[in-house]
Amino acid sequence: MHAWWTEPDCLPHAAEELRRAMPGAPVAVVEEGFLAVPAAPSPPALAFARQALPNARLAPVPSIRAAAEAIATDLLEAIPDTAPWRLHLASCYGAGRAGENRCRLIDEAVVEILRRRRRQRIRIRIPDGAAPRDGEAWLQWLLVAPDRAIASVAEPAMARAWRHALVPYPAGRIPVASDKSAPSRAFAKLAEAELRLGQSILPGEVVVDLGASPGSWTYWAMQRGARVTSVDRSPLRHDLMNHGHVEFVQGDAFRFKPTAPVDWLVCDVIAAPRRSIDLAIQWARQGWARRLVVTVKFKGVAEYALLDELKSGLAPLCSEFRLARLCANRNEACVMAVVGSSPTPAPT
Ligand SMILES: C[S@@+](CC[C@H](N)C(=O)[O-])C[C@H]1O[C@@H](n2cnc3c(N)ncnc32)[C@H](O)[C@@H]1O
Repeated sequence: MHAWWTEPDCLPHAAEELRRAMPGAPVAVVEEGFLAVPAAPSPPALAFARQALPNARLAPVPSIRAAAEAIATDLLEAIPDTAPWRLHLASCYGAGRAGENRCRLIDEAVVEILRRRRRQRIRIRIPDGAAPRDGEAWLQWLLVAPDRAIASVAEPAMARAWRHALVPYPAGRIPVASDKSAPSRAFAKLAEAELRLGQSILPGEVVVDLGASPGSWTYWAMQRGARVTSVDRSPLRHDLMNHGHVEFVQGDAFRFKPTAPVDWLVCDVIAAPRRSIDLAIQWARQGWARRLVVTVKFKGVAEYALLDELKSGLAPLCSEFRLARLCANRNEACVMAVVGSSPTPAPT
């Protein structure tokens, strides 16, 4: 089976998304917060899931030692010797620290087993949070109770096919960044988008920030060393308005066109979902930006299905495509994409 971990308030929306992506497939809740289908011809991208668990199974955890033995066996028998690998262990039950402590002990026991049986495998383990790369394998054990887990083993080919759905932190929990000098906490969304996409804004790059005021995204891009054109009807925070690397354009974000293609479009405009979705697709089609980070804001839950239009209209234009409700925000989704060649098949 393939499984997805969702937060409780998102489970019905993720289930709907999965049913729309795979009409007729038997979508089941296999454990609290976990959706599953027996098989998927192409890996669906679910904005309302925190983490995807391809090739998953229910795994008993009779003891820390037994779980560690099972993980080491998965690694040594299912993953090629030379493939870099990551192991995500996370607790998805209870509110206390007991589950996380259990995960840490299992992790330590896995390392200890490998030290004895295949020491060189330890050196090619990828740390949590590192940007995903081609050729790596993913092992995930999410504890659903002290005595059982949903385990997922994705060898490199499967991890590549699922890369738009795999989040490089255990259980997809991305730590929310904090910076007291930013004009508002909104910058944490852009920081998270970079981590999800596995690409950061680089020094010297050109960024267009639509709906920029008061300026946290502009601030974040500037901290990265970029030059930013910031568009809003309202001005930015005073220091940003006067910064040599920021050009402020007062006006309508939906009418703005860059004079030359830019490295990043970042857009956090408050607008109806359809307008933000159309804007993202237009920028990609016109080749106005190489990378996109666009939030889609909702009132209530009625329009969530519009996100399917990003999957069908934008993903085929992109070599990388991610769509997620961010950890740093509740009722909006964010599309993150690299526009251009080697398009990935449209996620359903
Ligand atoms: C959530 S705020 C953006 C916050 C910003 N990303 C930051 O980090 O500080 C949304 C912004 O969209 C702007 N906005 C809404 N509609 C707009 C439009 N049609 N053109 C330009 N700006 C617009 C609002 O003025 C508001 O400043």
